[in-house]
Amino acid sequence: MPTTCPNWPYPRLIAHRGAGRQAPENTLASMRLGAGHGFLMMEYDVKLSRDGVAVLLHDDTMDRTSNGSGRASDQTFAELTRFDFGAWHSPSYAGEPIPSLHAIAAYTIANGIHSNIEIKPTTGSEAETGRQVALLAQALWRDASLPPLLSSFSETALLAAQQAAPELPRALLLEKALPADWQERLQRLQCCGANLNDKHTDRSSVEQLRNAGYTVVVWTVNDVDRARELLEWGCDAIVTDEIEAISPRHPI
Ligand code: G3P
Ligand code: MG
Repeated sequence: MPTTCPNWPYPRLIAHRGAGRQAPENTLASMRLGAGHGFLMMEYDVKLSRDGVAVLLHDDTMDRTSNGSGRASDQTFAELTRFDFGAWHSPSYAGEPIPSLHAIAAYTIANGIHSNIEIKPTTGSEAETGRQVALLAQALWRDASLPPLLSSFSETALLAAQQAAPELPRALLLEKALPADWQERLQRLQCCGANLNDKHTDRSSVEQLRNAGYTVVVWTVNDVDRARELLEWGCDAIVTDEIEAISPRHPI
């Protein structure tokens, strides 16, 4: 049986990487911008520094989203804080630091914002990242109104998260179309749902998952009509970069 989220307790609209297109992705600035547009849930990517600090970063390396280079997992957290994770986006965000999961937990919980933590391990450290992020989430969200939803493409990370903090809800991220063995995989990982790639999501996949009692989140949906269609099919939530046209301020 899945660890179900029988009634999706989270908002239906989730800002991707914070408001990660209009502000530098996976930073406190992107969370604040998304919150300013009315978003009450953020998706963001988390991995470990060399000294085991959970930080927000999408890629294995810092090259694309900072003035540094190389793998973030080769740097301590103190070393990572010396780089600029905002100027690559635009001058107004120059000096934006890499955030720790501690900082993002403090900001989101204090402001009533829910979290979808995507466990995004540096290649080769899947189990350790799953375990550490789950333990931290368990501790940091202990008194929050809702726990964060943990998700990952890595089944190794999800299994380690399940073993470390079994009570936290988990979702399997699927890059391609719903695989034939989806039910076995979700059961093995004790996931409450699947987070699907919009490019490969059809009505039948959504209905199969929903009928089996699983939650369905679709990413990354930036078209209003498509968002409306997915929600009508029964998806629980969509993850978006489009914080203007798809906004909790004007229900779609
Ligand atoms: O969690 C949904 C989405 O963020 C997964 O893809 O590459 O944007 O992290 P990516
Ligand atoms: Mg992500």
